[in-house]
Amino acid sequence: GLMRELKGIDVLELELKHRLGIKKVIIVPGNADESPFVKSELGKAAAACMKKLLQGENIIAITGGSTMAAVAEKLTPETEEKKLLFVPARGGIGEDVQNQANTICAIMARNTNGKHRVFYVPDQVSTEIYQSLIKEPDIEENLHLIKSANMILHGIGDAITMAKRRKSTPELLSRLADNQAVGEAFGYYFNEAGEIVHKVLTLGIQLEDLEDIPHVLAVAGGASKAKAIKAYMKKAPASTILITDEGAAEWLIKG
Ligand code: BG6
Repeated sequence: GLMRELKGIDVLELELKHRLGIKKVIIVPGNADESPFVKSELGKAAAACMKKLLQGENIIAITGGSTMAAVAEKLTPETEEKKLLFVPARGGIGEDVQNQANTICAIMARNTNGKHRVFYVPDQVSTEIYQSLIKEPDIEENLHLIKSANMILHGIGDAITMAKRRKSTPELLSRLADNQAVGEAFGYYFNEAGEIVHKVLTLGIQLEDLEDIPHVLAVAGGASKAKAIKAYMKKAPASTILITDEGAAEWLIKG
């Protein structure tokens, strides 16, 4: 892109990191909206970043989405010294099988010689069901693992795109539009100011838990996600590492 020719990508990365107030930004060339190759480059960059950060024993929490699936494809076997356990970060939040955290964790484990856990809890549980589910020994154990993760890897989505993909009710869709939701991460929907306008009630990682996780990697690209990234980054922990592409970065720098 043009920005890349005017300024080095490394300069853009630093500028964006300061602007967003996070730990680090990694930008891959191109725009994921326009080419599937760019999404796989995002996956490659995220996989490389993960590898550098992991040492010894690790519990890695993962969300769903096609970007996380692209990361899984780029992971390669680890040697004996590193132990990796992949766990879904949150209960099922309405994705197709290939984009579900359970599936992605299984692929990540297979590709790294690691292990994984499945976490099948319904989408949108009632408070009552929630209270009884957390007492189930299997679920309790998974929740304990999830909360002790030393790394989390997550996607960020455009709010309306995600709400539709989750087959949200017309009521929720219009409420999100009324509240000007632009971004989504972990089942939380944000407006441009980074305020939470809606939250999918499910088990697993809650936004406040991120503060306790040493390595937080957000992977999201494409110009169409720029607003969503900006909104979520207002809430993101300062420890966040963002892996994005030029398509989103150019908008974020201009905005
Ligand atoms: C979903 C996550 O599975 O994937 C969301 O629950 C995330 O939090 C979304 O925003 C991102 O999807 P994609 O396909 O754009 O990477």
